[in-house]
Amino acid sequence: MGRSGMPAGEMPADGGGWPLQAIWIRGGSPLRGTVEIQGAKNSALKLMAAALLTAEPCVLENVPDIRDVRMMIEILTGLGAEVTREGDQLRIVARELGEETPVEPVREMRAGIQVMGPVVARRGRIRIFQPGGCSLGPRPIDFHLQGLRAMGAQVAEEFGFIRVEAERLRGTDIYLDFPSVGATENLMMAAVLAEGVTVIHNAAREPEIEDAQRFLNQCGARVSGAGTGVIRVEGVEGLRGGRYRVMPDRIETATFLLAGAAAGGDLALRPAPVYCLEAVLSKMTEIGVHWERPDRETLRVWGAGAVEEGYRPARVRALPYPGFPTDVQPPMTALLAMARGTSMVSDEVHSARFGYVGELRRMGADIWTDGRTAVVRGVKRLTGAQVAAADLRGGAALIVAALAAEGESLIEGATHLYRGYARLEERLAGVGARIARVEV
Ligand code: EPZ
Repeated sequence: MGRSGMPAGEMPADGGGWPLQAIWIRGGSPLRGTVEIQGAKNSALKLMAAALLTAEPCVLENVPDIRDVRMMIEILTGLGAEVTREGDQLRIVARELGEETPVEPVREMRAGIQVMGPVVARRGRIRIFQPGGCSLGPRPIDFHLQGLRAMGAQVAEEFGFIRVEAERLRGTDIYLDFPSVGATENLMMAAVLAEGVTVIHNAAREPEIEDAQRFLNQCGARVSGAGTGVIRVEGVEGLRGGRYRVMPDRIETATFLLAGAAAGGDLALRPAPVYCLEAVLSKMTEIGVHWERPDRETLRVWGAGAVEEGYRPARVRALPYPGFPTDVQPPMTALLAMARGTSMVSDEVHSARFGYVGELRRMGADIWTDGRTAVVRGVKRLTGAQVAAADLRGGAALIVAALAAEGESLIEGATHLYRGYARLEERLAGVGARIARVEV
């Protein structure tokens, strides 16, 4: 039962209608049982954009019911697509496609920019609100735009909007200065209907890009090389519809793994994309977390929790895949805040991803940051406090800390967490956490 008198499960999954929501946690309860891992947010959002490349119906299975997906639905319908949800399936039919992208959801969610490539490829033009910076740093989209220009598009930035036009995009060689996930996906999708061959050099290698390649090829595209640093796309005249099951969420899996390591107990995560969690799992071994992989798609984590186990400190560098994921850096830092010794954490992907550290300090953490680096001096235990999440994974760090902390915590800004984690309180309560959604 939530403190507001309403069981967490009956509240809207995305916090809709609850303007100021917080998550209450009493730390110290071990987590025991099984958590079912949802479909990957960062794959589902891109596959939804990819569905705009065809006029035929596309069905995506295993799509999580989270705020970001709901915002992407708004973007797709604003562009003229019909989107219907049935259980974990989304049916997307983009028979006609407009060129005006709705402003509000793009302003709220940067991933909205991912419709740019598909819409230009299919419709020949798009007008989209220029996404701003965010709490992780400036996050420009210059690689997306340079790539589209190289493919022959006219790009104009005016009155806060970006207008991209191309009668038909032309294949070419594109080199990315940094292996940007979003730029790789946007350009790969733009190239699918371009004339000739596009080769993206220094492409991002994240597993979600392979998911996109599999879906696109199922619809008749000719994409190869996803998962490597060079992606080759042979343009085709058109795509058909398709049905595809989104891969499980590796970041969610890692978040629950860290929660289990912090709180202790015996937790199974399933279906876990174990094959793409190497960097995280090897750090778990290094610091002394007990984990195993009982079968191909299950991860088990157990032990007495961070306070009793006294994990070893580590050096963690967040890098593009297959390096340690930047999206796991905040909850990992929260765990290291309770290690026996001093850790160094750096983030070489986002320039300002330590905003949550000030909140961890309120809980007793001893962390010092300078630019992209944090020095984390482990303390014996954290204590519950009133803190605020300012972004999704920073919020995950506070959850991990609060689950292991002594006493009660109140995490404000819960809406940030609902962007990426479906039914978070319900699922954690299901494995023994003392947690509730509350109104503040
Ligand atoms: C994706 O964002 C993810 N989002 C992020 O996850 C994730 O942190 C990031 O990839 C890195 O893994 C989605 O998939 C929806 P990038 P994206 O382009 O594609 C710079 C989460 O918590 N850059 O790989 O926007 C940029 O500023 C979210 O789930 C440019 O300079 O990330 C950043 O420093 C947060 N110019 C770096 O590259 C560009 O044109 C990596 O960004 C594009 C990017």
